[in-house]
Amino acid sequence: MIDARRINAAAAPSAFDDSFARCISDGLRCTPKEIACKYFYDAEGSALFDAICALPEYYQTRTEVALLRRHADEIATLIGADAEIVEFGAGALRKVRILLDALESPRGYTPIDISGAYLRDVVRRLAADYPKMALRPLVADFTLPLHIPILPDAAMRRTGFFPGSTIGNFRPDAAMALLRRMREALNGGGLLVGADLVKDPALLHAAYNDAAGVTAAFNKNLLARANRELGADFDLDAFAHYAPYNPKAQRIEMYLVSLKRQSVRLSDGVVEFAAGEAVHTEDSHKYSIESFREIAARAGFSPRAVWCDEARLFSLHWLEAR
Ligand code: AVI
Repeated sequence: MIDARRINAAAAPSAFDDSFARCISDGLRCTPKEIACKYFYDAEGSALFDAICALPEYYQTRTEVALLRRHADEIATLIGADAEIVEFGAGALRKVRILLDALESPRGYTPIDISGAYLRDVVRRLAADYPKMALRPLVADFTLPLHIPILPDAAMRRTGFFPGSTIGNFRPDAAMALLRRMREALNGGGLLVGADLVKDPALLHAAYNDAAGVTAAFNKNLLARANRELGADFDLDAFAHYAPYNPKAQRIEMYLVSLKRQSVRLSDGVVEFAAGEAVHTEDSHKYSIESFREIAARAGFSPRAVWCDEARLFSLHWLEAR
């Protein structure tokens, strides 16, 4: 049973359904075709992403979890007592639990996510284990300007938590702008952020082209979602998952490639695909420790501690607001 006084959810999720419809309708009619990666994460997509995180080829999640575990005490000291943690994108609870368990008397936890259903689930699973902490899920798109209401009794400064290298899914300029908005929302508090590192392209290629085909299913879920929600008639077998590494831009690029010339029905008309035509669905940028600290500094943070594993696969950064 969830104590309603500790939970203060905001906004209805339905406002986002139109945006997916618009994204599909507009994005498949422009050249080159594209679908924004934030629409991966309906219930099916989130479950597929959880499965990706457990894949042997996808080193990111287990490496970041190990870093959090290994440095939890040091991180907790930097954050300090009575913190309010704001998580941008309520992802794997496993990660925030490591943080909350290490902190001295955490005051509150505010997960911000576009999916209201996912947030309700997050809160239900955390409420019993942290009875003294205020839980305040916020249904919002954290890529847009944010107003986070102040918790009663909490300090003005918040600590941001943005794990999983989701920052890599933004182009560097957009990543800088997002970090800047986060800094403003934190009212002078610090940010703990995970960033995937540049590495052997073969390792990166394997991580986004796994043998079990889970990443392919995750990518194609965009089309399946359009069929489910918008009455489109995509034939999933007529599209291929394609995820090359672009070494010049230092990013994985994800596409859905039409395997033949075809017409697809959408809710507002028909869209034509040429044989071999690609729909761009995601970029996943990789950073060096220095290039990430530079972006953080341009966003108004002072980069402080950084932790990374021995194989230099993944990095965790503690940034303080200037
Ligand atoms: C959420 N994000 C950091 C993942 C990534 O690695 O860019 C999404 C993903 N796409 C394919 N596999 C995982």
